[in-house]
Amino acid sequence: MMRKLIAGNWKMNGTAADLGEARDIADGARDAGSDVTVMLCPPATLIDRMAGMAAGTPLLIGGQDCHASQTGAHTGDISARMLADAGASAVILGHSERRADHGESNGAVRAKAEAAVRAGLTAIICVGETEAQRDAGEALALVEAQLDGSVPQLDPSRLVIAYEPVWAIGTGKTPTADDIAAMHHHIRGWLTGRLSAGGSEIAILYGGSMKPGNAAEILSLADVDGGLIGGASLKAADFLAIVAAAKMK
Ligand code: PGA
Repeated sequence: MMRKLIAGNWKMNGTAADLGEARDIADGARDAGSDVTVMLCPPATLIDRMAGMAAGTPLLIGGQDCHASQTGAHTGDISARMLADAGASAVILGHSERRADHGESNGAVRAKAEAAVRAGLTAIICVGETEAQRDAGEALALVEAQLDGSVPQLDPSRLVIAYEPVWAIGTGKTPTADDIAAMHHHIRGWLTGRLSAGGSEIAILYGGSMKPGNAAEILSLADVDGGLIGGASLKAADFLAIVAAAKMK
């Protein structure tokens, strides 16, 4: 059984006033046990402070994006090396909000993932279909095309895939258990086909309206190796309840 990864994505939320929640999560991560890895991905402005707070606890810190270059004339951007320097050990890449808001293509996501892995970070690469694509029966093919374009042929131990149906993010809607299981099975098949044995070791997270009430069911599905959690990661009580659900799987 693979260790479960429960990662919180704070998106553009959080200032110094919210560090108390992170402290509670860091403390709670001590009870997660050896079968669950707990991570928080705050906005870049909080990475350094949160990493300092998490020192000595099992809580890992991640970024939410990085540039494909490590340095250079890119005003406003942050490189993977900078995230690592600030205390991050991972970075979320190709989140659907970035694909939509910033026009990130699969190729751009792949270049960022390569930069992240070269900087020693774990790249959490997000894929997922829109509601229209699911309704049209195109979800599996669309996600496969995103994997084809976004996943680099690099050290599989540095890669994580997050399946996040766009229509489930922040909406309270989730796919059926059968649909989640079918997609994760499809992603696993792609990973083992493309990256052979290493592909079976890559964690596949589910994301999209995961919360304490549905975490246990989703996390018990085959090939669901953890969760990427937005809204429910902002409050320690909710997030730690999901961590507790992962611990029992
Ligand atoms: P949500 O967000 O849990 O608020 O749906 C998940 C995500 O976007 O990573």
